[in-house]
Amino acid sequence: MSHYGHRGDRAGQAEAFDAIGDRYDEAFPHKDGQIAAGEWLLKSMAPGSRVLDLGCGTGLPTAAQLAEGGHQVVGVDLSPGMLARARANVPSGSFHCLDIADLSPAGTRDLGRFDAVAAFFSLLMLPRAEIPGALHLCHDLLRPGGLFALSMVEADLDDVPLPFLGNAIRVTGFLREDLRAQVEEAGFEVVAESSYTYAPASTDVPPEEQLFLHCARK
Ligand SMILES: C[S@@+](CC[C@H](N)C(=O)[O-])C[C@H]1O[C@@H](n2cnc3c(N)ncnc32)[C@H](O)[C@@H]1O
Repeated sequence: MSHYGHRGDRAGQAEAFDAIGDRYDEAFPHKDGQIAAGEWLLKSMAPGSRVLDLGCGTGLPTAAQLAEGGHQVVGVDLSPGMLARARANVPSGSFHCLDIADLSPAGTRDLGRFDAVAAFFSLLMLPRAEIPGALHLCHDLLRPGGLFALSMVEADLDDVPLPFLGNAIRVTGFLREDLRAQVEEAGFEVVAESSYTYAPASTDVPPEEQLFLHCARK
C-alpha cells in the first residue's frame, strides 16, 4: 500500500540543489549535531551494516562518515548535481537518483531492507501532508530493531518558499513535540533527542534550531 497521496513540487527543489552545488557545504561547515548522530549510528551498528542515506546531498559528512566506518552505504537524492558530488566524495557508496516518495519496500524502487536509515534535513523538503508517509516508509525500509537517525529544523512551517543561497526552496518544519509525536506514530521508539542552535557560515541563510532524533524501529 502506498502511504503517498498528493505530491508537492519536485522539479523546483531538484533544480535549486543542482544550482546550489558546492555552496551547500560551504554554507554549512560545522555539522556537530549531524556528526554526533552519525557517531551514534557507528557505535550502535554491527560491522558491515547496510545503511540508507535519504536525501544524501553531497555525501558529506554522513555517507562518507558511515562508509569510512566500514558500512555499506546506499544514498538517494533527487538532485543529479548533488549525487555527482556524493559519488566523487564517497566512491564505495551506491547512489541513486530517486524521489523519496518513489521508494517502497517490494515496490518498483525496492532497494532492499536496511539496518539503519539516516534522513538529515531531507524530509523537511516535503510538504507536511507527505511527512507521515515518509516516516512510515523509513520504518518499512528497516529490518525490525533497525535504527533511524532524523534531523529537521524546528519551525512551524508547511511547504513555505524560503530564499536559500540565491534560490527559493520550499521548507517544512515542526515544533519538537509535534515531530516526536509523528515519529512515534510511525512506529519508532525515540531513544534520544537533542537540539543545536546553528548559525550557517553564509548570511544568505538564517540561523536555525536543529532537532536530532535517534530512533529504533519497534
Ligand atoms: C538540505 S539538503 C541535506 C543534504 C544532506 N542530507 C546533508 O545533511 O547535508 C536536502 C537534500 O534532499 C534532497 N531532496 C529534496 N527533496 C527530495 C526528495 N523528494 N527525494 C529525494 N531527495 C530530495 C535535495 O536534493 C538535497 O540534496
